[in-house]
Amino acid sequence: MAGIPHDHYEPKPGFEKWLHKRLNIVGLLYDTVMIPTPKNLNWMWIWGIVLTFCLALQIVTGIVLAMHYTPHVDHAFASIEHIMRNVNGGHMLRYLHMNGASLFFFAVYIHIFRGLYYGSYKAPREVTWIIGMLIYLLMMATGFMGYVLPWGQMSFWGATVITGLFGAIPLIGEPIQTWLLGGPAVDNYTLNRFFSLHYLLPFVIAGLVVVHIWAFHTTGNNNPTGVDVRRASKAEAKKDTLPFWPYFVIKDLFALGVVLVVFFAIVGFMPNYLGHPDNYIEANPLVTPSHIVPEWYFLPFYAILRAFTSDVWVVMFASWITGGIINAKFFGVLAMFGAIVVMALVPWLDTSRVRSGRFRPQFKWWFFLLVIDFFVLMWAGAMPAEPPYSTISLIGSAYWFAYFLVILPILGVIEKPTAPPETIEDDFDAHYGKQPAE
Ligand code: HEM
Repeated sequence: MAGIPHDHYEPKPGFEKWLHKRLNIVGLLYDTVMIPTPKNLNWMWIWGIVLTFCLALQIVTGIVLAMHYTPHVDHAFASIEHIMRNVNGGHMLRYLHMNGASLFFFAVYIHIFRGLYYGSYKAPREVTWIIGMLIYLLMMATGFMGYVLPWGQMSFWGATVITGLFGAIPLIGEPIQTWLLGGPAVDNYTLNRFFSLHYLLPFVIAGLVVVHIWAFHTTGNNNPTGVDVRRASKAEAKKDTLPFWPYFVIKDLFALGVVLVVFFAIVGFMPNYLGHPDNYIEANPLVTPSHIVPEWYFLPFYAILRAFTSDVWVVMFASWITGGIINAKFFGVLAMFGAIVVMALVPWLDTSRVRSGRFRPQFKWWFFLLVIDFFVLMWAGAMPAEPPYSTISLIGSAYWFAYFLVILPILGVIEKPTAPPETIEDDFDAHYGKQPAE
């Protein structure tokens, strides 16, 4: 491994040294791109770059779209049509932005489930995880408000249904709902504030991404074995890592290229596949669509929201014990947010000492079920809120909570993990036989 530049930045004499004494910016960038990275990162570790690309794409396309968009209920729908028909490249910009949101969520779900499988949330990476969860919440808020901007039927009715949920909170619900909307119902003032916030939040997300990256650069990356390369001796750490540049930059860019081939194929050939046709009908407060569905990436949590109807025993019990303050609607809202809260708390709910799921024979199966559960909930969320779909949503929601609140805490105590390797090099040797020394 001789010749691989692992060590810290040394400014060259002349301008670099002059600048280094005044502002250590080159050193900071050097240490960032040269960071020792576990050499066994697999293809599940490419999604962070895809996410960074998505954020940049959304900001760039969004800023240009905003130059031609009008946030007024009388003009918003027409201004989108204007973008699609008259603005040079406008339809491409809009389709990139629409489908860019889908790619963003697709990537974030793989990124999250990667973390859940390889235990990337475990100590010492709790802060990386929590910042990630904040980013995810802000992504949901941004996506939701962005969908209102075209002022189509789904925009209007989606906003009405979702903001209506806040009205279900006892006592303070109605003032909160009015405050969110800017008035008594979804109207021009709502569109204005949603546009303003939809423009602002991606920059807040960008700031949090910097902190996110800072956090995992502090701890070092996790990797498929879960071995802590920072804990190994300096010589071992050198054997187990490679500098991020050029090795992982090239790998990540190749992966991004492959993802973008699929993305551009969708943008070019089936740009409306993931959308809802009703959003090409202008918003009409007097006509409710027969079936209001959110975007695909909200569906699992939408299913959890609708799963808890008034005939479910936990809802009846909660209502009885609180004297009716917690009704089915409020319970649904609590469950939807609770589903994300339990995921955010996973660093403290998982009691296993072994980090990576690769060495946890029973965990693997429960985790596999969780992935299936996520897809089942997504499917059920798109179905009408009636049997058998409501029952399926209820079972799916119950598993989601059981996984985080019951299975993970107990499994960590009763499961017998297989022995993880001491170093990444040992793991290679176990798989490929010991390599002759250089
Ligand atoms: C805009 C959104 C996000 C961006 C741009 C982003 C970016 C990144 C990057 C570049 C990495 C390093 C390598 C990789 O895994 O690809 C990373 C790691 C990580 N991310 Fe994110 N992330 C985002 C959202 C999230 C979310 C929502 C979570 C879930 C809570 C999360 C949890 C983590 C964790 C735990 C790691 C550490 C993995 C490791 O140590 O190898 N991230 N992120």
